[in-house]
Amino acid sequence: MAATTIRLSSYLCCLLLIVQVHSVNRDNFKTCDQSGFCKRHRSLQPGNSPYVVLMDSLKITPTQISVQLLNTKTNVRLILDLYGLQGNTARVKINELEPLKTRYEIPVGDVLVGEPKQQDIKVLDKASSSITLGLENSKIVLTYSPFRIDFISGEEPLVSINSQGLLKFEHFRKKPEAPPEEAAPADPPAEGEDKKEDEEVKKEEEEKKPEDPEESGLWEETFKSFHDPKPNGPASVGIDISFPGFENVYGIPEHAESMALKTTKDTDPYRLFNLDVFEYELYNPMALYGSVPVMWAHNEKSTVGIYWNNAAETWIDISSTTADKNFFSKIADLVKGNTEMAQMDTHWFSESGVIDVFVMLGPRPKDVFKQYATLTGSTELPPLFAISYHQCRWNYNDQEDVKNVDANMDLFDIPFDVIWLDIEHTDGKRYFTWDAHKFPGSKDMLDAEGAKGRKMVTIVDPHLKRDDNYKVYADAKNRDLMVKGGNGGEYEGWCWPGSSSWPDFTNPEVRNWWASKFQYSEYDGSTPDLYIWNDMNEPSVFNGPEITFHKDVLHHGGFENRDVHNLYGFYVQKATAEGILMRSNNEQRPFVLTRAFFAGSQRFGAVWTGDNMGEWSHLKVSVPMLLTLNLAGITFSGADVGGFFKNPDNELQTRWYQAAAFQPFFRAHAHIDTKRREPYLLPEENRNIVRDAIRQRYTYLPFWYTLFYHGYRSGETVMSPLWVEFPEDKSTFKMDDEYLLGSSLLVKPITDQGATGTTVYFPGKNDVWYDIQTYQSYAGAQNTYINAPLGKIPVFQRGGSIVPRKMRVRRSSSLMSADPFTLVICLNKQGEAEGDLYADDYKSFAYRSGNYIHREFSLKNNILTSSNADPNGQGSTKEWLEKLVIVGFPKAASSVHITVDGNSQSLYHSYDSTSRVLTVRKPGVNIAKDFTITIQ
Ligand code: GLC
Repeated sequence: MAATTIRLSSYLCCLLLIVQVHSVNRDNFKTCDQSGFCKRHRSLQPGNSPYVVLMDSLKITPTQISVQLLNTKTNVRLILDLYGLQGNTARVKINELEPLKTRYEIPVGDVLVGEPKQQDIKVLDKASSSITLGLENSKIVLTYSPFRIDFISGEEPLVSINSQGLLKFEHFRKKPEAPPEEAAPADPPAEGEDKKEDEEVKKEEEEKKPEDPEESGLWEETFKSFHDPKPNGPASVGIDISFPGFENVYGIPEHAESMALKTTKDTDPYRLFNLDVFEYELYNPMALYGSVPVMWAHNEKSTVGIYWNNAAETWIDISSTTADKNFFSKIADLVKGNTEMAQMDTHWFSESGVIDVFVMLGPRPKDVFKQYATLTGSTELPPLFAISYHQCRWNYNDQEDVKNVDANMDLFDIPFDVIWLDIEHTDGKRYFTWDAHKFPGSKDMLDAEGAKGRKMVTIVDPHLKRDDNYKVYADAKNRDLMVKGGNGGEYEGWCWPGSSSWPDFTNPEVRNWWASKFQYSEYDGSTPDLYIWNDMNEPSVFNGPEITFHKDVLHHGGFENRDVHNLYGFYVQKATAEGILMRSNNEQRPFVLTRAFFAGSQRFGAVWTGDNMGEWSHLKVSVPMLLTLNLAGITFSGADVGGFFKNPDNELQTRWYQAAAFQPFFRAHAHIDTKRREPYLLPEENRNIVRDAIRQRYTYLPFWYTLFYHGYRSGETVMSPLWVEFPEDKSTFKMDDEYLLGSSLLVKPITDQGATGTTVYFPGKNDVWYDIQTYQSYAGAQNTYINAPLGKIPVFQRGGSIVPRKMRVRRSSSLMSADPFTLVICLNKQGEAEGDLYADDYKSFAYRSGNYIHREFSLKNNILTSSNADPNGQGSTKEWLEKLVIVGFPKAASSVHITVDGNSQSLYHSYDSTSRVLTVRKPGVNIAKDFTITIQ
């Protein structure tokens, strides 16, 4: 009886909380004005830098210089370390010279994949006011008074640090004694006095306004009813970073924002603080679920960027101005003519930690991506099923429901690879368990999916229900693995299960413990076909300040959540991915989806853009959001198809599927309160169109897989802004409604209600683009109106490219793994094309020991040659070449023959003069072999 009452009351509480959460609005989240350190940094005026370089303290090693910085106002000294790094990169670190206690730095190996490899920096010039260092093709000028650093390539200034003099470093200090009258406790107030006093205090506070921003919230802060005691006092760090010569900056996800970032003169700064924001608004700088403090600046000549290696809450102001040519004329030989030079100024400040800035000097987009991937890693090669179509909903109710969805997808010939189970599949939101009534035989269910080559994903959130009979919680509690509240006891907060606690994922031992929970022996009812989804890992705490942890929550090493906040979700996904790896003895690739993320999360799986809405505006914003995630290295990303909240109409659902079929992570998902919307439930016309879109995705899987392979090797974006491939084309710098997949496919999704066409910009003045359905050609460097009635997805293949496809679509990707390839060869103006194909077993790590094939195709002088792109790839395969579709071919061929191992054989071919397509059938050669196909 008692147990029932407790259960009921916790259920009611939870229900109440859900209702509460559903009424979250802007007021739940701080503005800059409500954050002491944000106000303190934002109030700084440029040109008043108190910092000078103490040249006497200069120490030079071949790869590094160290020197002290003196704050001439406070006499506090900082230490500056400047390193040359391999790959045209530099690192600027500023810490307190003698901190009262260690300031938090992210452990090397977690976000940074290792200690960055250093590179010689030569002293080129040592003057009385500055020192000039040489790094590869760049110069670094350190000016002493006031302190600033400039990075110059040739005669072009690229990046300036502290050129505005906004360096502010709040050193740890002892809390000042309270003035005696405040310190002495007054006699207890007489009855009724309380209220009077309150009023007086309020009045006094009002009179004190305007408050000195310098004094704002130094030792404690209150937001709504939440008190932040700030036991360490002020500890924030900030500095300005400018990009002379640039008009556009990008990056710093996650915001529901355009790709080219806006100036923040009239808004708050962009905020990076992982938060669960209910019904997020579009086009504003408010924080969302994840944070990647990386920013790129791009112009026709260069791409450069910075990575701000700090896990605390961070704000970034952006403004546009003109460069200080007087200054630059002294340190570089530029200033030719009187034309003004544009400049983007950015101002970064974090609540704690150290200043640790990586400056990546490009000079091309793909160089900076590589430089960043060298630091934080690239997206791991996903298993093929993970880049196929995923069917999710909160919730598939029971095994019967799962079976029906699976059967209906088959009935309507709609392929899918993964069916997902949300929180309701568990026993009372106890993760790693199953609701015994709804899912009595999870293994049978998983095996049934597995038989069709399909997988399942269950949700495993990081909050643990505080129930001593729940073995995961009890184990964590007994081992003392949870984060602690400010009072030192186990932190308690509310989430889906009601009262919960959170393991301290920042602790490597806790991560190992968590990883062990994915062993088949620990996670009852799991099988190798089960993969994982981590949600609410910002973390989301329904009754916490800003719906997350209190800032004084204590983590491993005695650090506060204030120091590590933006890393919590990163570590949850890392530990989960390690668990999935471990359960297969490191043989099978893991797949873990996460909502919260940080720099480096790309190494552990996919990211989605959280709780979007079934509205056209959310479909539209998904494109810039995913482009920005790609630019920040999180290439395996997607948005909930259809929108999470609300009931999208048939047209919106259809258009959303069409867009997402050409985006990296492709998953439909819906809120528990929405109407069922599996694709087969659509009316026939829409259903057919959606089916075609999903099936098209499957035909392009070899292309996607090859793209992900390139990304894994080089850190390149998968879904790219046009300027990545056309860096000199200014008209593309703000374009974020169309994009490229690799360098070969141009996609312009329809994101407007009722639209029956769209204007597509075709880049490249020497380029030609072909519609992937009709093969109609379009010349580059122009805007063209394209008809796009509901059935049409405007996607174009670039002339000069060869795209591998598989045209025999089956129920899941793994059922297609031995199927033959079709090469779609779109000719450029010279009648040539090239491309490549990567293939392996699509699931294991065998490729790491050479078990893969990477082919290079080139069509020149009417001869298609297939050769090995990589001698390390020694794999074999059953896959063979079924067809060539040669687009833009001028005339019918008289003969086509294939030569393999010295033997020639003629091939059947046909020509369509309207579409100018030559089709060559059944070359039949194993795709791993060298061959030539000659057209006469
Ligand atoms: C969060 C997630 C959403 C999920 C829900 C229930 O809102 O963002 O995707 O369905 O929680 O787990």
